[in-house]
Amino acid sequence: MKAAALLVLVAVLGLTAVQAEDPYLYFTWKVTYGTIAPLGVPQKGILIDGQFPGPNINCTTNNNIVINLFNDLDEPFLLSWNGIQQRKNSWQDGMPGTNCPIPRGETSLTTSRLRTRSAASSTSRPWGCTRRRVASAGSALTAASSSRSPSTLPPATSPSSSATGTPPATTSSSAASTAAGPSAARRRPDQRQSGNAAAAAAGGQAIFSMESGKTYRYRICNVGLKATLNFRIQGHAMKLVEMDGSHTVQNVYDSLDVHVGQCYSVLVAADQAPRGYFMVVSTRFSKRVLSAAAMIGYAGSTAAPPAELPQAPVGWAWSLNQWRSFRWNLTASAARPNPQGSYHYGSINITRTIKLANSAGTVGGKLRYAINGATFQNPATPLKLAEYFGATGAEFKYDTISDAPPKKLRSGAAAIRAEPIVLTSKFRDFVEIILENHERSIQSYHLDGYSFFPVGMGAGRWTPEKRRSYNLMDAVSRHTIQVYPRSWSAIMLTFDNAGMWNLRSEIWERHYLGQQLYISVLSPAKSLRDEYNPPENLLLCGATKNLPLPPPYTI
Ligand SMILES: *[C@@H]1O[C@H](CO)[C@@H](O)[C@H](O)[C@H]1NC(C)=O
Ligand SMILES: *[C@@H]1O[C@H](CO)[C@@H](O)[C@H](O)[C@H]1NC(C)=O
Ligand SMILES: *[C@@H]1O[C@H](CO)[C@@H](O)[C@H](O)[C@H]1NC(C)=O
Repeated sequence: MKAAALLVLVAVLGLTAVQAEDPYLYFTWKVTYGTIAPLGVPQKGILIDGQFPGPNINCTTNNNIVINLFNDLDEPFLLSWNGIQQRKNSWQDGMPGTNCPIPRGETSLTTSRLRTRSAASSTSRPWGCTRRRVASAGSALTAASSSRSPSTLPPATSPSSSATGTPPATTSSSAASTAAGPSAARRRPDQRQSGNAAAAAAGGQAIFSMESGKTYRYRICNVGLKATLNFRIQGHAMKLVEMDGSHTVQNVYDSLDVHVGQCYSVLVAADQAPRGYFMVVSTRFSKRVLSAAAMIGYAGSTAAPPAELPQAPVGWAWSLNQWRSFRWNLTASAARPNPQGSYHYGSINITRTIKLANSAGTVGGKLRYAINGATFQNPATPLKLAEYFGATGAEFKYDTISDAPPKKLRSGAAAIRAEPIVLTSKFRDFVEIILENHERSIQSYHLDGYSFFPVGMGAGRWTPEKRRSYNLMDAVSRHTIQVYPRSWSAIMLTFDNAGMWNLRSEIWERHYLGQQLYISVLSPAKSLRDEYNPPENLLLCGATKNLPLPPPYTI
């Protein structure tokens, strides 16, 4: 089976790649402020169409999705598609470094054309962001595979916020249905502090009901802003079948650590005595543990769940060992090279090693987070546009940080610089990226536009000898990876997707305060085979506002 292509949603621009026969789905979304309470405490959030998380998009492979977005906020707004790999198309990645935001207050209109190309059922969440606000308008896009691409998974289910499971379409695990109908209204469980779980049960309602003897697929996504979550279901084991869009070896787990930005699919057999059971989510690696529980029921039974909740594991060694047990399923959907040609990633020679270390410090007396001594600052013009229009000079310089952290970082003495950070990569280079975390908190990194192979993790500092511990066979191809406290994680990938791509901390405050950078991958051929042209309705801002459009890419 393939990795990257499992979760590919390609935006299609202009006339080139849209196939006339592929259906179009049109959506009109209004973005507003509203009150949300993801962890029980009401706060101001961003709603899409009055909902948080936002509405689901039901679609199948190769659908073209057109979204008209009205920004009713009093600040500019961008929508990004976390976990959707936009092949050849960073034009619609929706990050501040790739797109101009939809101006504030204006009910102005933008159109995203996203072409789903997933070979397996997958889900993603778009990320709403404004420059000022820590806000995530988690919405979901559920792409079921079409009958054209065989899938071994039951239809996708909607994901939910804060790592809560959501009800799947009723299906037996053998029913490898590839039909289009992903499922299930999004329902959010009652989220309560731990200890109140039994009380929740008393008056609580099952968020959905299973039928004895059937098997259900749950998709669990951590769309939170900060905390790693542990997910478990009373009395039920979970068979892992998918993560971040890749099929996995089907190990069975009692609980799963889901780091910020990650998604898992598990199969759960309704094979216990018919009564209620709690799904429990609790935070990990945090001083104060927050828990939430929701009830799932069995059809025909109103019996309350057992009072005793399953406990979360303790410490991060457990979590690291669980990560080590994850394996790519090389036989699901037939093994074949992924679009990066890196199916045999273990036998490709590494052309470059980039070591990135995060740090915390201050700039002008304010807290900032940095990578290799620099904290990211947005220029007035999105990087991708400045690059395309040949206006980089005034906006940013390439490669201001080097491929290794400065020595002084080790003592914590290095001053942090604030600047736009853009690394360049040669098109199709196969690189190793070491994410080193010298801090005491856990990190979670996400790379837009790519799937990568997390080949190794370990405590302490990375050294070249650590390569001997790499999994060069069947690491699960993913888009988000954790780095444990005072540890390192190593990922490998081929930079074969031209564009300007954001590498960021998924922990929102860190991302927002500068722990992010962009990687510019330019195809020297300037060919439509490697990168699409910008869409006709591309918003322009900053230095590009009055510049003439460069000549389009051609075949
Ligand atoms: C998605 O499909 C499911 C099942 O077909 C349906 O119940 C649900 O209402 C649909 N959701 C949307 C947003 O269209
Ligand atoms: C790989 O996936 C296939 C299809 O989903 C499944 O039948 C098989 O058991 C999986 N292999 C392992 C080792 O889990
Ligand atoms: C990789 O490097 C080794 C040693 O430098 C060399 O012998 C081999 O041909 C290279 N393989 C490829 C595919 O370039």
